[in-house]
Formats: sequence, structure tokens, C-alpha cells
Amino acid sequence: MRIGFLYEVIRRDERLLLDELAGFPGIETEMICEREMVYGPGRELPALDLLLDRSLSAWKSLYWLNFFQGAGVLTVNSPHTAAVCMDKALTSAALERAGVPQPRFRVAFSGEKALEALEELGYPCVVKPNIGSWGRLLAKVNDRDSAEALVEHKLTLGSFHHSVFYLQEYVEKGGADIRAFVVGDRCIAAIERSSSHWITNTARGGKASKYPVDSELEEVSLRAARAVGGGVLALDLFRTEKGLLVNEVNHAMEFKNSIEPTGVNIPGEVVRYLHQRGAEGGDHGR
Ligand SMILES: Nc1ncnc2c1ncn2[C@@H]1O[C@H](COP(=O)(O)OP(=O)(O)O)[C@@H](O)[C@H]1O
Ligand SMILES: [Mg+2]
Repeated sequence: MRIGFLYEVIRRDERLLLDELAGFPGIETEMICEREMVYGPGRELPALDLLLDRSLSAWKSLYWLNFFQGAGVLTVNSPHTAAVCMDKALTSAALERAGVPQPRFRVAFSGEKALEALEELGYPCVVKPNIGSWGRLLAKVNDRDSAEALVEHKLTLGSFHHSVFYLQEYVEKGGADIRAFVVGDRCIAAIERSSSHWITNTARGGKASKYPVDSELEEVSLRAARAVGGGVLALDLFRTEKGLLVNEVNHAMEFKNSIEPTGVNIPGEVVRYLHQRGAEGGDHGR
């Protein structure tokens, strides 16, 4: 089986996946550096059974996922899953349609309507870049004055991305959130990320510890994963009095800090799944 490895930079996560791929009997890995590729007529794409996307740029990888899918290559994740997960508004819409519990949210496209929606959500609330990660440019808004200033700053100083206002209620999550790892139809591991700051990303100093995958976590994670099209996913969840809420679903899973605390060989599980999907064949575009 020939698996293409789409990448831009080889970080520790990619190295761990490559080691697992190298050790898996029957898998041959072809490295595909996104920056060195050109797409167009007469430019043959490599013949593959499956393409694994490990690109750093959600935008760029979305193109390659579409190009490879168009050439009949199964991709992980699918272009559909990637397009939904890179966009918080589309993720929330998909979760809402599937009835998956999530924080109350609003999406608005003008400053005036964003302020109206923030008032409706009530303070404190959270304003996020609709496309973003690693906890960057998140704002907790405690009152109308700061809401007005933030909206004006985003409209005046922000790029066009900032004219999409993704807004959520602020959830009291007890100093930690949960990161669950879904591979296909299994929730293979979870960690708790705790911090004295309200933003708990490990990229922002949150501390990871093992979290048990109980039946509620498994059920909610798998429903959320299915809602966005399935695949290899990392979900952020909040534990509240009303049960678990799904905050977001990441399609570019980072796992290096979670292997040791969970004791689960996450890249090994991913590669097993790739082999299984590749062997099924013919199921392109799922
Ligand atoms: N509505 C919210 N209420 C409370 N904490 C939040 C909320 N939204 C985000 N956070 C905190 O900020 C972190 C980053 O938010 P997230 O939506 O996952 O953005 P990113 O894509 O940058 O990771 C979360 O892991 C959580 O700790
Ligand atoms: Mg997150």
C-alpha cells in the first residue's frame, strides 16, 4: 500500500507518524512536500492508495485534498471534514444540525449585528477568529464597552477574516478543558488541559494530564466527529453541570504532548486506521 505524506515541515508529530509508517508491514510512504508541488494539466499527481494530510496550513492543504480526491485518491481527512473543521462557524453549524451539545454561539457579519448578538449572549462572552488555532487572538469580553472596542478594532485593523464574527457564551469549565482524540469510529484517548488562564491550550502553557474516556465522552466525541464528516480528529470539550459541550473539532491533530500522559500510542493508532482505510479502498470522498 502506497501512502502519500503531505507536509510542509517535519515536526515531532510528523516524525512520530513517519516512524510508525516505516514500521508498519506493507506500507510504503511517499513524501509529498506541498511547497514543491504544482497542480495543473500535464502535471501527474503521484499514484497513491491514500494521502495523509500533515500540512501546517489549513488553506493550502484544502487545495491538495481536493486535487487528490479529484484524482481518485482517498484522503485523511476528507476535503469536506477539513473545510468544516478549519472554520468555527461551519463546525458549529454542523454540530447544531446533528444535535451535538455545544456552547451557545452566534455568527454575525457586521459590527452592528455582532454587538447585538453579544448582548443577546450576555457577558462575559468570547470572540474568536473564525479561522484560527493555538488559542491566538481569542478575546473574553466582560462588558459592552470592551465589546464595542473589540469590534471596532477587528473591523479597522483586522484582515478580511475578522469581518466574520464568531461569538460564544463564556463557559465556566473549572480551570480545565478536555481534549479527546478520535480515530475513525473510536475515541482512543483523552487528556485534561488545566491552566490558571481561561485559555488552556498546551501551546499557551496548559498542563496536560490523562482523562478517562468514559461512556459520555465517547458518545459525545463520536457524534461530533460524525457531524463534521469523520476521520482523524482532536476535539475540545468543556465539562459543565449540564454535561459535556463540544467547543471545537480540529482536523490537523497534534498529539505529541498527549502520548506520555495517556499511555496510548496515538500515532500508532492513526497508522493502523490509515492501513485499514487504504485496504478498504474505493470509498473516496467520505
Ligand atoms: N466559550 C469559551 N468559554 C470558556 N473557555 C473557552 C471558550 N472558548 C475557548 N475557551 C478556552 O480557550 C481555548 C482555545 O479556544 P478554541 O476555541 O479551542 O480555539 P483554538 O482553535 O485557538 O484552539 C479552549 O481550549 C478553552 O480553554
Ligand atoms: Mg482548540
